Amino acid sequence: MSLTSTYLLSNGVKIPQVGFGTWQTPAGDVAEKSVLEALKVGYRHIDTAQGYKNEESVGNAIKKSGLKREDIFLTTKLWNESHGYEATKKAFAESLVKLQTEYVDLFLIHWPNPVTFRDDWEKTNAETWRAMEELYQEGKIKAIGVSNFMIHHLEALEKTAKIWPMVNQVFLAPGEVQHDLGVYCAAHQILLEAYSPLGTGKIFSVPEMKTIAEKHQKTIAQVALRWSLQHKFLPLPKSVTPSRIKENTEIFDFELDKEDMRLLDSLDGVVGKQKDPDTTNF
Ligand SMILES: NC(=O)c1ccc[n+]([C@@H]2O[C@H](COP(=O)([O-])OP(=O)(O)OC[C@H]3O[C@@H](n4cnc5c(N)ncnc54)[C@H](OP(=O)(O)O)[C@@H]3O)[C@@H](O)[C@H]2O)c1
Repeated sequence: MSLTSTYLLSNGVKIPQVGFGTWQTPAGDVAEKSVLEALKVGYRHIDTAQGYKNEESVGNAIKKSGLKREDIFLTTKLWNESHGYEATKKAFAESLVKLQTEYVDLFLIHWPNPVTFRDDWEKTNAETWRAMEELYQEGKIKAIGVSNFMIHHLEALEKTAKIWPMVNQVFLAPGEVQHDLGVYCAAHQILLEAYSPLGTGKIFSVPEMKTIAEKHQKTIAQVALRWSLQHKFLPLPKSVTPSRIKENTEIFDFELDKEDMRLLDSLDGVVGKQKDPDTTNF
């Protein structure tokens, strides 16, 4: 296995097993440089979102990298205020312009139940999804999916969806395994992407992480990302620091044993839990 090894999505599209995260990476120089650095050290999967406000910088970095567009797997996500059929199409078209590309590899509904649509989220998601299915059928999106969807959101979507989501991107890190959601997604051939695989930095102060890292002579970040891969999740580590961007790729030369995995699973909530999408204030 390596950084460019892929998982197969339910529609046959290949997705590189590690993606590079860009949440809270400021647009402009920082975003451009970090994405360029990631591409330089071998990441071929970039995760951005309309809500991160850095799509243009991601697009610039891809252009500057000199890599062929088809050699990069690019994900973006629909922001909360743009749910609904027309709004989805409009927001997606704007993303293409910012990302300076003809298509995206993966487009996700970022949150299932934004405040703006809370009274009518089920119907709104159905309309949003219909727009995404059309964009998929037109070839402008290679795979469609969701993010922060819990089982009841997926079940609601199932009532009207013609195409089943290929991906669900949720919070997964040591101590937050989302067991039931995992069982549901496996049964429906939905790949789980692990966001905040380092607990947005909280993982570095967990003593058990240090012990396991020392045992394998690896770093805490590498152990957390390896945990993710061994669960068959797709981790999306974020960093703006070149040495860390590289460190987070060196996760294919060791293996966590059953005891390590059990311990990491059991660290309940140590880096937080999945936010309840039905009560967020955005
Ligand atoms: N769909 C969603 O709702 C959602 C929500 C959250 C995240 N995400 C996605 O998941 C990605 C990752 O999640 P995240 O941004 O929450 O954070 P994360 O990847 O869990 O952690 C990033 C933090 O850890 C630090 N870090 C990274 N590698 C390190 C290393 N090797 N050693 C020490 N520190 C290290 C980073 O610092 P520096 O950057 O300063 O190096 C940053 O502070 C996001 O960027 C985004 O693409 C999606």
